[in-house]
Parts: sequence; C-alpha cells; structure tokens
Amino acid sequence: MRGSELAQRQGIPRLVQRLKRAMGPAGIFLRGMIEHPRMVGAIMPSSPQTIRAMLEPVEWDKCKLFVEYGPGVGTFTLPVLERLPRDGELVVIDTNPLFIDYLRKTITDSRFHAVLGSAEDVEDVVASLGHEKADCVLSGLPFSTLPEGVGPAIAEATARVLRKGGCFMTYQYSSVARDLTARYFPRLDSERIWANLPPNLLVWGWRD
Ligand SMILES: C[S@@+](CC[C@H](N)C(=O)[O-])C[C@H]1O[C@@H](n2cnc3c(N)ncnc32)[C@H](O)[C@@H]1O
Repeated sequence: MRGSELAQRQGIPRLVQRLKRAMGPAGIFLRGMIEHPRMVGAIMPSSPQTIRAMLEPVEWDKCKLFVEYGPGVGTFTLPVLERLPRDGELVVIDTNPLFIDYLRKTITDSRFHAVLGSAEDVEDVVASLGHEKADCVLSGLPFSTLPEGVGPAIAEATARVLRKGGCFMTYQYSSVARDLTARYFPRLDSERIWANLPPNLLVWGWRD
C-alpha cells in the first residue's frame, strides 16, 4: 500500500474520533437516538428549566436511595448527585450499553451506580444494592414508544419499590406517563414546562 493511501485510511477513523470528542455528550445522545429511536424517543436532552423544576419538590435530606430510569447521557444524573446527601446513593438503569458505558467512564462519584438493564427489574436492582425500598424514582423513559406492556410493568414495579411518602417523577412531551402514573399513584402534581424542546409535562406521583 502506498504511503499516501495508508495515511488516508488512518486519517478517517481519527477524524471520526475527533468529531465524536468535539460533540461530547450531544454526539453520544445523537448516536443513541439514531440507533434506537423508539427506545430513546427524544430529539434533545432535557433543558435546565426542566431539571430544576422536576427536582425542586424532592426532600433531599431524607433521600438515601434515588433511582433514575433512562438517564441517557446523564442530563439529570449530575444535578441529582449535586443535591444528594453524602450518605445517599444514586442508581441509574438504562437498556442502552452506549449510554451506560459513557456514564461509567465519565462519573467517578462513589455514590453512583450504573446498571445495564430494564427499569422493569428495578426491585432486583434495589435489592442488589442492599436496600429494601427507594426514596425517589425519576423516569426519562419514552412511555409512548416503549414495547407493549413494558410501561405498565414499570409503573407497577415502581409503586412496589417506593417507600411510603416516596415520589415517582416523570417528564414527557405527551400525557401518557401522567395517565400511567395516575393508575398506581392516586395523588399527583403536574406542571407544563415551556422552556424545553418540545415543551414537556412534569408529573410527580406520591406514594401514600
Ligand atoms: C428520552 S431518553 C432520556 C433522556 C435523558 N434522561 C434526558 O433528560 O435528556 C430515554 C432513555 O430511556 C432508555 N430506555 C428505554 N427503555 C428503557 C427501559 N425499559 N429501561 C431503562 N431504560 C430504558 C433509553 O435507552 C434512553 O436512554
């Protein structure tokens, strides 16, 4: 092979690597979305306004175990770690190895655990960390496009795993997550956030 051909061959993967690095988490999110559009179900990560409003009602001093479903590239993960007490733990569950690998590589906080799997198995995940119950569960799952039956199974398992007074939090463009939450959590709060692309609906389901 001629020198110029070899340089050209080596140059292309290097260019791809450089582009990926330059795009950072946005590039990883875009790749996840292109590869699994129905599982990701979003065009952009959540806005800072969504994150602030969603996490605002959490009683952080009582939060020993926080669970996040579908963290993607961790848009909520770092803000949760910033608010979590020193003896608290955060476990994220995502079906996409691309996102889980990225989070494991970039977050070194000892309170953080990243699990590759489905949110349907939240009870096993919580037990594997030595906890009986979770204090809060936050979901970034695209309930409207999940395979048949998966959404209700997740909502039901969430109602079982939350302690009394615990909260199930969802943010979605449509009202599917709110309707599903209402089946298992009789007490709901909700708020529409317009500063998000597209605007989304935040719902808090309280476990009485
Ligand atoms: C809309 S993206 C999350 C966006 C991110 N949390 C944010 O705020 O920008 C949805 C995520 O749910 C994950 N997901 C889909 N089905 C899942 C399941 N059954 N269990 C856990 N994660 C799942 C996808 O891999 C993806 O990371």
